[in-house]
Amino acid sequence: MSKVVSVINLKGGVGKTTVTVALAEFLVVEHNLKVLVIDLDPQTNATVALIGEKEWGKRNKKGLTLFNLFKDHIDDTSTFDLEQSIVKKTSNLQGGLSNLHLLPSSLDFIQIQDRLINIGQTALMRPIDVLKKAVKDRLDDYDIVLIDCPPNLGIVTQNGLNISDSFLIPVIPNRLSTYGIPQILTSVKSFNRRTESNVQPLGVVISMFRSNVQNHTLTKNQLEAQAQEGKMPRIFKTIIPLASKVSDATDYELVGINTLKQKYGWSGSNSMEAFTNLTREFMQYVGL
Ligand SMILES: Nc1ncnc2c1ncn2[C@@H]1O[C@H](COP(=O)(O)OP(=O)(O)OP(=O)(O)O)[C@@H](O)[C@H]1O
Ligand SMILES: [Mg+2]
Repeated sequence: MSKVVSVINLKGGVGKTTVTVALAEFLVVEHNLKVLVIDLDPQTNATVALIGEKEWGKRNKKGLTLFNLFKDHIDDTSTFDLEQSIVKKTSNLQGGLSNLHLLPSSLDFIQIQDRLINIGQTALMRPIDVLKKAVKDRLDDYDIVLIDCPPNLGIVTQNGLNISDSFLIPVIPNRLSTYGIPQILTSVKSFNRRTESNVQPLGVVISMFRSNVQNHTLTKNQLEAQAQEGKMPRIFKTIIPLASKVSDATDYELVGINTLKQKYGWSGSNSMEAFTNLTREFMQYVGL
């Protein structure tokens, strides 16, 4: 059985996409697992990080993105082709990883988000079932499915939750980035009740950590204390540091990137080790 994990936060720019792409690459390269990344974010960042803008542009022109799936739901058409849309070799590591597949997003998605909610009220299929209906028979071809979500818990993210076993919350350890965590937990609980699902929190991943920022250490300690008291999901022991290598990692076009170390490591930072450890912890918690 495949394990499906949505990466969510109400807040933008907290490292959701970076963590999603890194986990996917480490799971494939260091653990030889088969991974599908579903990019549900209209910003299309995970897509561009994994296949580059040029390839995305070609595929977008041919209608081979999730935009078509959701547009079909609105227009009552059937243009979306799952098999054609899944990119079977992605990433700039090792000349492309054939065990890292991608269901790409599209910037065009942005225009239809609002219409999706409205049409959903009258359509035969619930709007939260659109993705499930399309991919459910394909998920078990993978060990892990990671879903990169937009920074909200709207209908598109709910489509991701609807096929997920659990969700991961990346945060920057400061007040503004952690403020919304209780709201996320409440919203997913309410989603579970409404849809008779059982999507569980996998944990909070602290990202972009700066040990020399007092606020970061304070917030990290607070989060850990709250988790101890059961007021917060588990906080991953592994902490992702703020590092220029990691910032560059989502740039597909960077030249000279062939190994995980070239992409995430060296340069005096401990980011490579952090992602290696994060991946191990992640596997332990999802039960792999
Ligand atoms: N550990 C890190 N060190 C340095 N820069 C990072 C790190 N993690 C992410 N970044 C950078 O921070 C920015 C935001 O990260 P990312 O795009 O992963 O966040 P996000 O939560 O997916 O954002 P959005 O909500 O817009 O989708 C990006 O420019 C990314 O390269
Ligand atoms: Mg993102």
